[in-house]
Amino acid sequence: MRTGQAVKGMAGALPPSWALRCPKPPLQRVVDLLGAPLRMVVLPDLGSERLGLTSLRCERFAAVLPQMRGRCLDIGAGDNVLLRLYESRGGSSGNIGVDVVDWGGGCVLVPSADRLPFPDASFDTVTFVACLNHIVERAGALAEAHRLLRPGGQVVLTMIGRFLGELGHRLWWYSEDKHRDEVEGETGGLDPAEMITLLHEAGFVNQRQSSFVYGLNRLYIAERTSTR
Ligand SMILES: C[S@@+](CC[C@H](N)C(=O)[O-])C[C@H]1O[C@@H](n2cnc3c(N)ncnc32)[C@H](O)[C@@H]1O
Repeated sequence: MRTGQAVKGMAGALPPSWALRCPKPPLQRVVDLLGAPLRMVVLPDLGSERLGLTSLRCERFAAVLPQMRGRCLDIGAGDNVLLRLYESRGGSSGNIGVDVVDWGGGCVLVPSADRLPFPDASFDTVTFVACLNHIVERAGALAEAHRLLRPGGQVVLTMIGRFLGELGHRLWWYSEDKHRDEVEGETGGLDPAEMITLLHEAGFVNQRQSSFVYGLNRLYIAERTSTR
């Protein structure tokens, strides 16, 4: 297990529901555009939300939540907010978040993401939100996600590209990696071509992707084949 210290905004209350509306109301779009430098660079998530700006975490969750179904495993779950949101919106129970650091959200702590203590085909959705770049054993973690998904189940990921990610991690004075031991092999982000290759090599099919936050971040979805 790695050490970390609780980060403001990494544990506690759920984000406000107005920040998760999808699509956003027109006025919120305008406010978010005007406040883009604040919410994208200057302010941590809680600060953005307090000012009425959609935080980056809410942008990610709003993209991922509609894709989640059945029993979910969230890898690199941080403070477990995604699963708490999912359950608060009527998602099924028995969901599990895992992480290598205890951020205080009740995750199962694991030494790495490539060997997880769950039976084969025991989840309908596996999510990796803003974390595959931090998971140095990322190929093994995706193979493990494939093993853990039921046939026809989906893996859902968000990932920023390398250039913006490296830049962002230099600017984001509040980001979680500043509060834990970093590991050699972590990157600021992963480019679409790398994501496609990683997902393909782990055995996933029917890959789809789309962009959000003005094209600066990407949502990836892929399936485990419906035959075993
Ligand atoms: C940027 S945070 C994202 C947290 C959460 N998914 C979210 O969107 O709020 C990256 C997370 O990846 C976790 N992480 C880093 N290395 C990991 C590993 N090898 N296996 C699993 N999680 C890892 C960190 O502890 C952290 O919680």
